[in-house]
Amino acid sequence: MKFDTPATQNPIDRMTVVGKPIERIDGQLKTTGRAKYAYEWHDDALSYAYGYPLGAAIAKGRIRAMDVSAAARAPGVITIVTSDSMPDLKTAKRNTAKLFGGREIHHYHQAVAVVVAETFEQARAAAHLIKVDYEETKGAFDLEASMEGAKKPEDGEPDSAAGDFAPAFEAATVQFDQTYTTPDQSHAMMEPHASIAAWDGDALTVWTSSQMIDWWRSDLSVALDMDKEKIHIMSPFIGGGFGAKLFLRSDAVLAALAARAARRPVKVALPRPFLMNNTTHRPATIQRIRIGAGQDGKITAIAHESWSGDLEGGSPEAAVQQTRLLYAGANRMTATRLAVLDLPEGNAMRAPGEAPGLMALEVAMDEMAEKLGQDPVAFRILNDTQVDPEKPEKAFSHRDLVGCMKLGAERFGWDKRSTRAGAVRDGDWLVGMGVAAAFRNNMVMPSGARVKFDRDGVLTVETDMTDIGTGSYTIIAQTAAEMLGLPLDRVAVNLGDSRFPVSSGSGGQWGGNSATAGVYAACVKMREAVAQSLGFNAESIDFADGMVISGDRRVPLADAIREAPLVVEDTIEYGDISEEKQQSTFGAHFVEVGVDIATGEVRIRRMLAVCAAGRILNPMTARSQVIGAMTMGVGGALSEELAVDKKRGFFVNHDLAGYEVPVHADIPHQEVIFMDETDPMSSPMKAKGVGELGLCGVAAAINNAVYNATGIRVRNYPVTLDKLI
Ligand code: MOS
Repeated sequence: MKFDTPATQNPIDRMTVVGKPIERIDGQLKTTGRAKYAYEWHDDALSYAYGYPLGAAIAKGRIRAMDVSAAARAPGVITIVTSDSMPDLKTAKRNTAKLFGGREIHHYHQAVAVVVAETFEQARAAAHLIKVDYEETKGAFDLEASMEGAKKPEDGEPDSAAGDFAPAFEAATVQFDQTYTTPDQSHAMMEPHASIAAWDGDALTVWTSSQMIDWWRSDLSVALDMDKEKIHIMSPFIGGGFGAKLFLRSDAVLAALAARAARRPVKVALPRPFLMNNTTHRPATIQRIRIGAGQDGKITAIAHESWSGDLEGGSPEAAVQQTRLLYAGANRMTATRLAVLDLPEGNAMRAPGEAPGLMALEVAMDEMAEKLGQDPVAFRILNDTQVDPEKPEKAFSHRDLVGCMKLGAERFGWDKRSTRAGAVRDGDWLVGMGVAAAFRNNMVMPSGARVKFDRDGVLTVETDMTDIGTGSYTIIAQTAAEMLGLPLDRVAVNLGDSRFPVSSGSGGQWGGNSATAGVYAACVKMREAVAQSLGFNAESIDFADGMVISGDRRVPLADAIREAPLVVEDTIEYGDISEEKQQSTFGAHFVEVGVDIATGEVRIRRMLAVCAAGRILNPMTARSQVIGAMTMGVGGALSEELAVDKKRGFFVNHDLAGYEVPVHADIPHQEVIFMDETDPMSSPMKAKGVGELGLCGVAAAINNAVYNATGIRVRNYPVTLDKLI
């Protein structure tokens, strides 16, 4: 189905199943341990071996020699695959860092060997017996020191400009110019990367933990130099991704190579310390923001420049993205610069670009509001725009930032905020409130699905869509049930299998809207197939309560299946419509913090998010997405930071003891409100993404609340207590 005109009325609008706060249909499987994650796949007929990876102990250089003799003699060892004994594997375009092979070392903990043994413990013990002789070369590990040599990224975010920033800024009555830094961050999802590989002749099956089945399948076929069709990928349950599992990782490659060498199925899980340095992370940024305004508070000039680093051939953190679209102002510019750093690969982490970008921009807006003597909410509302400020002829498809700000301020009790910083005290705590806008673009992706209708009246949906803890199973079931007028328990959903039609996958908060739109398209075809089977006119039939209705005729849906089950398949594709209007999602975050008067410890007291993100397909799973994202934002504000060893070139705090993420107990009160809206430009579902929006702006709102509580402005994240005393 080509989506090329705005959505009109369709069966989803009935909202009898869609839009309802339905519990996850896979919830019981997960809470009872029956949902099989990558490492848990088990077939009694197979005899598994265990692979344990060895990572490079230097950040840059080459392997002179490897001595595996002691490891090979260790108990239980079956085989050892080393990178120096084979050429570089080809790197698919989605991977920057090489995953395995060859003698060159490009970053610390790059995989250099995998030991295969009868047990996990034997493999681990033997891995430590491998001796590697390295020739170390000097690397660049310090972003600030590399700023001068940073370049315009070749195929990344382009610089942008409208009007003439420099003279407009010069002429502005009130000027603001500050620089902020955000640190390297790690996805720190619950389930580490893990894969099981099994060969059957020249065919390979990989059980893994992937957000994007088809990307992995393509990239694995490049890495292993084999026919994509011979690769079968399974990833039905995923214990969190946050972008870490968008792109093929070393666990899948090592498992495949190890299984081939051992002639056995092999399990490889990346140990937790590997995650920080072997895989990807959100790159640190240095961001300079300049804002010029008249005394009336209207922005006349705005500039945002961002510096980040990555390995040679990598991409920048697109931290200026939101500044191109969030606020009005005739004279503007953004620039993104990329330095070559020899740290592990920087890449997408939840709301790449906007998440760190808003950590800076929304503090700058708070600082500017204060300079102007304006209320931070009013200042943002004053500078709202309904068109792309760089291209005023392009309007937003739907934009309700103002509605989010107003409703949030009212619900949060914003009028009780002290306009003077450091003025409110509650026992040992200084108390403050902060606000920030949330912004994240809404991307759409082609997405396919197959639907089968069986004689027993069960409709089965199959798509390679993934559920990374987001609720994909549930909203897909809701969509199919709505389209065919079936109760939810008559719908079965199978995901995460490369034998199913290629979906949008889970990334960039596009999955919810795109994957359900794909299911919508397949269900439109199913409705036609049912009509044809019953001899009804497809145009004038309706589906409700398990019945097909045409005029005064009502026939049980199951009657449409004569002999074989009905099976149809379709893919939603987007015409120019997704470019016609600017599609983005909006929100407002409000936070109240307490800061201990003696220790500087920051405690979150309450949080509110108001989100404008199109139709909400399931307010329960959407709320879970947003509160999870808000919690992640607390980490971004207060604790998350990969500490860089600038001499040796690696992330030092490579476990969850040293890399601290918040938990439920850290946040006593969270509330989420969704604006009641639809966006007919986004898809037939009229929905948009919300999972990343929920994170965007949170850290800035917290930082602004800390300022309001203490009068101390922190421009270098995270806001740790040493910066407050
Ligand atoms: Mo997201 S960073 O595209 O999983």
